[in-house]
Amino acid sequence: MAEVGLAFLSASLSVVFDRMASPEVADFMQGRKQTEKLSRKLKTAMRSVNAVLADAEEKQLTDPLVKDWVDDLKDVLFDAEDILEEIATEALQRKLDAESSTTVEKALDCISNTFLDTFVNEVEPKMEEVLDRLEDLTKQKDCMGLKVGVGGKQHPEQVLTSYVSESDTFGRNEDNNKIIDLLLSSDESGNERCVIAIVGMGGIGKTNLAQLAYNDSRVKQHFNLKIWFCVSEEFDELKVEKSIIEAATLLPCPKFENPEQLQVILEKNLTRKKFLLILDDVWSEKSRHQEFLSQLLRYGTPGSKILVTTRNESVALAMKATATHHLKLLPNDDCWSLFEKHAFRDGSSNADPEIKDIGRQIVEKCKGLPLAIKAIGDLLWSESNVERWTNILKSNLWDLHMKGTDILPALRLSYKYLPSYLKRCFAYCSIFPKDYILKKKSIGFIMDGGRFLATI
Ligand SMILES: Nc1ncnc2c1ncn2[C@@H]1O[C@H](COP(=O)(O)OP(=O)(O)OP(=O)(O)O)[C@@H](O)[C@H]1O
Ligand SMILES: [Mg+2]
Repeated sequence: MAEVGLAFLSASLSVVFDRMASPEVADFMQGRKQTEKLSRKLKTAMRSVNAVLADAEEKQLTDPLVKDWVDDLKDVLFDAEDILEEIATEALQRKLDAESSTTVEKALDCISNTFLDTFVNEVEPKMEEVLDRLEDLTKQKDCMGLKVGVGGKQHPEQVLTSYVSESDTFGRNEDNNKIIDLLLSSDESGNERCVIAIVGMGGIGKTNLAQLAYNDSRVKQHFNLKIWFCVSEEFDELKVEKSIIEAATLLPCPKFENPEQLQVILEKNLTRKKFLLILDDVWSEKSRHQEFLSQLLRYGTPGSKILVTTRNESVALAMKATATHHLKLLPNDDCWSLFEKHAFRDGSSNADPEIKDIGRQIVEKCKGLPLAIKAIGDLLWSESNVERWTNILKSNLWDLHMKGTDILPALRLSYKYLPSYLKRCFAYCSIFPKDYILKKKSIGFIMDGGRFLATI
């Protein structure tokens, strides 16, 4: 429980730090000496509480004073986050207005500057108030004897699994059959042991497709051993090897004296097995990883396959994939079916025609990307207010290209319209590694009077 509390507080702090570093907030601060100074002081105070968080989290279980301190800290962080959110929204709005304003409007800029001054006058006292509270807390921490850098735990090891059902997937029959053919095909081409790649942009459904193949009954029958491993940014060969051993023995991987011993066990577990290894989300193009894959394939029997999913064609080339499947955007009808499933309670046949019409226009803006469609569909789930649908359709965020980020407009929108307590859940989830599976049973989100608490 303490770890989750700690994780939550750290997440809140990192949200506030990130917000401060965001381009919108940074732009806003520029040239406003007083606001900049306050922001700097806020950062210093936050760093100072951050250093004792782990100790505070442990002590709060036994010391009611520390518990009060932690609760106050949570409150201050929520308020700091709200203020920065306000600044970011204002800055963004001004940027959009500037981009779309006419000459006459530009001439009236002085009026808008007066509004800006009013905004600054309102926001600075709020920042001062938060800073006062935070500085009080940093003083109290010294009296309570909280120590720097004590306790705390690392992230749990990445749990790797895969499940997706065919009925949840739209428009991927052909792709699915193609991948399965590639996985089951052997011998003739001389590529009986080979690497296959699925390539496509982020959110297009590569992992989803790999999961369909992984769970297909023909695939299950064909291979003696299947391993799913999510690689992400850092291609850690040792972790892949350990996962293979665990999948083969169904036991936690034992500790090895040296790498040679691990190789021996690995080889033993792959020999005489036709295996399928899925490496999801590969980014590295280093040639040593390709050698590593070849070595694994040599251990297995002919017919063993490695399926790699990646956003970059260059990764498929670097891994010497003998076949590459390029995943395309979803066809229109399938986009609509996917959206219907996520946005409407019982399909859209009984839905308000006006809402349906807006829905179709929203789907068009998602440009065939399943991730975008799902995000917006879920946001509008069971929503009957036409105005809300219109607001989302007409939002400026669809056309906004933020420098230095490649966040999809649909994701930005779905975040913007989340109620603030769910934004906190979102922040909390950001502490888990990518593709980490959260077990419903072991983690509960508790909402307390609009405030978010996490428990385990
Ligand atoms: N054809 C589809 N039908 C229904 N849902 C889909 C489909 N394709 C993808 N999805 C869903 O869209 C989301 C994004 O898909 P997925 O994670 O597979 O994308 P990806 O290409 O692997 O992205 P990334 O490059 O970020 O890893 C997932 O929630 C997935 O379940
Ligand atoms: Mg993926």
